[in-house]
Amino acid sequence: MNALIVYESMFGNTRQVADAMREALESTDVEVTLTTAAGAPADLGGFELVIVGAPTHAHTLPQPTSRVQGGAWADDPEKDLRLEPGAHEPGVREWIERIATPDTAARFASFSTRVDIPRIFSGDAALAIAKRLRKRGIVVTLHADFLVDRDSHLLEGEVERAHDWATQLLAVPSR
Ligand SMILES: Cc1cc2nc3c(=O)[nH]c(=O)nc-3n(C[C@H](O)[C@H](O)[C@H](O)COP(=O)(O)O)c2cc1C
Repeated sequence: MNALIVYESMFGNTRQVADAMREALESTDVEVTLTTAAGAPADLGGFELVIVGAPTHAHTLPQPTSRVQGGAWADDPEKDLRLEPGAHEPGVREWIERIATPDTAARFASFSTRVDIPRIFSGDAALAIAKRLRKRGIVVTLHADFLVDRDSHLLEGEVERAHDWATQLLAVPSR
């Protein structure tokens, strides 16, 4: 099976989660392409599983203004955050608009990172991804969210949970 994992990440948490998924899938002999949204292909032909993930910004997907705000967070030494290379590049929101083959046969799953507070207060980029893909005619069959603390550091155990979630994705029957 060929899988594509597309992610965007400002501080590295969503990348870590995506990388745990890559590792989980590769350990079951799935061929995985892991890429930032900026470098992701528009043509989805050849992929049977596509996993798309992003941090939650202002209750939804990052956008240029929230990425600038994220840059300011990283400038604050008290927050102990480091910007990812390409943190200000176009992300998942922009990639979804670029998809050239929405009639793909691939199965789609989405995930987010978000703050560990009730979802009604945090919002959830995984749901925003599903909604935007739906508008492109793509149905997301499963979504998950992985939690960070209020200072945007992953909670303990979330990388392992991402690993397990990716493994479970393979057990879900295709549409
Ligand atoms: C500008 C900005 C707005 C944010 N807004 C929210 C929010 O509405 N809800 C939430 O749960 N987290 C919010 N966060 C926290 C992010 O979800 C958190 O930084 C992210 O999950 C970390 O992932 P990353 O390291 O991959 O960027 C926000 C972060 C930034 C920089």
